[in-house]
Amino acid sequence: MNEVCDASPPMYRLTFRGDEDLLDAVLPLLPGGVREDEDALVAYSGAPFSDAVLALTGGAVDEVPADWKQRKMSAGVVIGGVVGIRSPFDRESGAPIEVVVERRGSAFGSGSHPTTQMCVALLLELEPGGSVADLGCGVGTLAIVAAKLGWAPVVGVDRVPVAIEVARENVERNGVDVDVAVSDLAVDDIPLANVLLVNAPPPVHERVAAAVDDRVRHVIVSGIVAEEMEDVVRRYTGFKIAKALGTEDEWIALRLSC
Ligand SMILES: C[S@@+](CC[C@H](N)C(=O)[O-])C[C@H]1O[C@@H](n2cnc3c(N)ncnc32)[C@H](O)[C@@H]1O
Repeated sequence: MNEVCDASPPMYRLTFRGDEDLLDAVLPLLPGGVREDEDALVAYSGAPFSDAVLALTGGAVDEVPADWKQRKMSAGVVIGGVVGIRSPFDRESGAPIEVVVERRGSAFGSGSHPTTQMCVALLLELEPGGSVADLGCGVGTLAIVAAKLGWAPVVGVDRVPVAIEVARENVERNGVDVDVAVSDLAVDDIPLANVLLVNAPPPVHERVAAAVDDRVRHVIVSGIVAEEMEDVVRRYTGFKIAKALGTEDEWIALRLSC
């Protein structure tokens, strides 16, 4: 936490349960209002709650940061016990490798999507060494993870300019050496590497698969659902499924190796 946060006054949060009658009684005493949070009622105040409020609600009070962004802090996600991915507003995860990524606007890739997490899990099973290309890199999460794991050189491309703008910031924020650029994989040359990270829709796989040459040892494939798997795998000729992961909602991630 930075100095400004440490210096800011706390906020008090009251959590309680009750019916309409209790709400009618307590609302006039809570100028900040009451909101429903899952199965509890929650009120915030800059000053300690009065004895009357505490007696009426029988609720529990805790001190929380005044800044709502900090109140929403989580530790992000930790994959394989090794890689923590979190936003700048989350607290440190304590994972050996910490990746801090911001997303903005429509740019994809805060690390919260299961396809991103499965790609990281599959990458973790490879011994780092060699080049990586993150094709459809969004805000750069996978590329940054790869660089932090020790892969080099690492490049990332995406067709969305704002994604690349944020990816550049994320690369700098994480102090890694990753080259990111705007590129439309539907028409532009495909950057190749020893490992391709392709968490992108089937048309991107179609084009990448057609471009793959003998530099490429592994392709980590995601961004597809179960029914698309057979067609996508068939296009990567010379590669076999080394590992497959899936989610209940049908997302698939594969490591294809030659
Ligand atoms: C599912 S997101 C994955 C983002 C990131 N790799 C991750 O795992 O967090 C797919 C990304 O592919 C990009 N994409 C889709 N079609 C593309 C194309 N033709 N050329 C470049 N990028 C593309 C999207 O903009 C999006 O950022």
